[in-house]
Amino acid sequence: MSDDARFDDPETQPSRRRFLSQLAAGGALALAGCGRRQVMPSTEDAPALELRAARFSGAPDGRTKEIWGYNGQLPGPTIRAKEGDTLRVNVVNELGVPTTVHWHGMYQKGTWRMDGVENVSGLPILQDESFLYEFKAEPAGTHWYHSHAGVQYANGLFGPLIVEERTPIAAYDRDEVLLINDWFLQPADTLLAHLLDGKGMGQMDMKDVKGVKDVGDIPFQSGLINGKGRAPGDTKSPLTVIEVKKGETVRLRLINGSSTYYFRFQIDGLPLTIIASDGAPVIPAEVDNLVLAIGETYDVLIKADLDGPRWIRAVTLDGNEVLAVLRPKDSQAGEPEMDPVRWGPRHVTAEALRAREPADLSTQPREMPILLGGSMRPYRWSINGAYYLTPEAAPFVIQNGEHIRMKLTNPTDMDHPFHLHGHDFHVLGPAARLNMRDPARKNTINVPAKGEVVIQWLANNPGRWFFHCHIEWHLMAGMARIINLKPYH
Ligand code: C2O
Ligand code: CU
Repeated sequence: MSDDARFDDPETQPSRRRFLSQLAAGGALALAGCGRRQVMPSTEDAPALELRAARFSGAPDGRTKEIWGYNGQLPGPTIRAKEGDTLRVNVVNELGVPTTVHWHGMYQKGTWRMDGVENVSGLPILQDESFLYEFKAEPAGTHWYHSHAGVQYANGLFGPLIVEERTPIAAYDRDEVLLINDWFLQPADTLLAHLLDGKGMGQMDMKDVKGVKDVGDIPFQSGLINGKGRAPGDTKSPLTVIEVKKGETVRLRLINGSSTYYFRFQIDGLPLTIIASDGAPVIPAEVDNLVLAIGETYDVLIKADLDGPRWIRAVTLDGNEVLAVLRPKDSQAGEPEMDPVRWGPRHVTAEALRAREPADLSTQPREMPILLGGSMRPYRWSINGAYYLTPEAAPFVIQNGEHIRMKLTNPTDMDHPFHLHGHDFHVLGPAARLNMRDPARKNTINVPAKGEVVIQWLANNPGRWFFHCHIEWHLMAGMARIINLKPYH
């Protein structure tokens, strides 16, 4: 193995820090273990936030199950910071198995070891140990955090991460986070095992995907909005209710924290003005609904002009519905009438969004073709014919300062939401019509089934990064790759 170090190279591993009580008391950071370059002297006195990862029981969709979550909440607590501030989050692991936290969307400029990808950024946090994540809150916008160890986040280990802009990107009265996720009764490891052995699981037999576009490898069960939902047949479990004052403008911060399903989002009869995606501001675009691929975030403004409650709908691409309620403040009304969704005509894809600033794009980038592949039996998903964690899946090696253009080609029958760590990329669109002028900046992009998308980014953040499909099962079945962006220390 060359110096493109693999995850078993001890030289590339951070020492595991033990979080000692002095820290909470504002004292010096105490470090255990050895290793160079691990000390990040802190000049700030802000106390660290604490996230305690543990198992607890709950029935978020009316069905009791063991949740893996943070601080006993589902989703985990919303973390808020001001753009440019240092975030310090002490993660205590009481799960009984190793874990990590990844700060989805954070650049981690110069702090790639804080990126929280199991065996890529560093070793996971062992049971009963803790780790202090410390990094700059940038870029601004709507982001999220989640476990990046195995398929753990599908059990509930996720939460919103909001970085408030120093310079406002829109005028609004207040904001609300709506974190949407799919939800399964079975533990994530069980679901993964059944996908991998291809046997299905009784009433959950794997889908036959021949000939039809497949929108999710595991049959849909239910979904949650801010931790509340209803399993099929349940008409009583509480839903999330957002109360709005007449005439106010609310910034909704939409996050798809799913493992398996995309959601089309709509609030009946209420236009959504998109102002940002994956944190980055875009030229405002008014739509009736939009699709959130897994891992994506959208910021939309709504003008609250309601005389009664409205459904907030998140619907899978095969029609399964997850609901919440938007309600005028002080109204006595309960839920709106149940009626099937009627989609408004206006929508937009990420490729059509335009950045507010013209992009400074190299016209002679290094081309890196990315070919996706996969099959349901055996259950395997690949990048350029290689499966992550096999020797063939050698890390991509990129030098600091290179302009990278990736044409992602997807001959499979499924959409794949691709996510890049440590950077944003510009979404140029399909190869035949590249937007070289003002493409949106994102960190997660849908690569459509039987389709393609071209992205371009400036590799300016040395480190060991991850690039992968954000469908958890695909990542674990091989659709991921390490990027060694050199020189890193
Ligand atoms: Cu949302 Cu590799 O992460
Ligand atoms: Cu995928």
